[in-house]
Amino acid sequence: MSSRLRFLCERSFIIMLMQLFLKPLILFTLLICLSSCSMGEEMRRIEAAKQASQLQQASTSTNLTGEQIFVRSCNTCHPSGKLGMGPRLDLVAEHFPSDPALTAFIRRGKGIMPPQPKDSINDDELNNLIGYLRNLSADLRDANTAGKVPGK
Ligand code: HEC
Repeated sequence: MSSRLRFLCERSFIIMLMQLFLKPLILFTLLICLSSCSMGEEMRRIEAAKQASQLQQASTSTNLTGEQIFVRSCNTCHPSGKLGMGPRLDLVAEHFPSDPALTAFIRRGKGIMPPQPKDSINDDELNNLIGYLRNLSADLRDANTAGKVPGK
């Protein structure tokens, strides 16, 4: 075999080897690159969705004070805590000694008193409302025992 022919043979052998191994290798690295790219894309999408839902939550939570909530949602039936369609609210401390019991009652409602889910009164607002109710109730009681008309 002439040396030139041998050289050609070796060269085609190397080319064959390269085709055999290099192609899959290139394909493999490409695949890894692509999948990590799309994974990063996916993570960004998830992050964006999370931020959007947080923003939405923040925009629906109005964080009103206890008094504002009372005026908005309770005053029609318990005008200033006095008798209306609902009863006077001077016995709240006796009927609901613990805050969790009062919270559960307000969330659930009773009879014609409507339930108050979280999207109408959020947890912070309900806490504010409980504080306001406790004060209002105590004021009404004080006014009762002093024989005065309850009010400011
Ligand atoms: C549609 C009228 C109505 C609205 C609005 C309403 N209530 Fe009532 N509420 C009632 C009625 C009626 C009862 C008596 C329920 C029963 O015992 O059957 C009641 C009972 C209560 C009681 C129990 C009083 C006690 O001493 O046993 C509390 C406390 C109370 N309401 C707080 C609230 C608060 C706080 C809100 C606002 C988030 C509210 N209510 C909104 C009608 C209403």
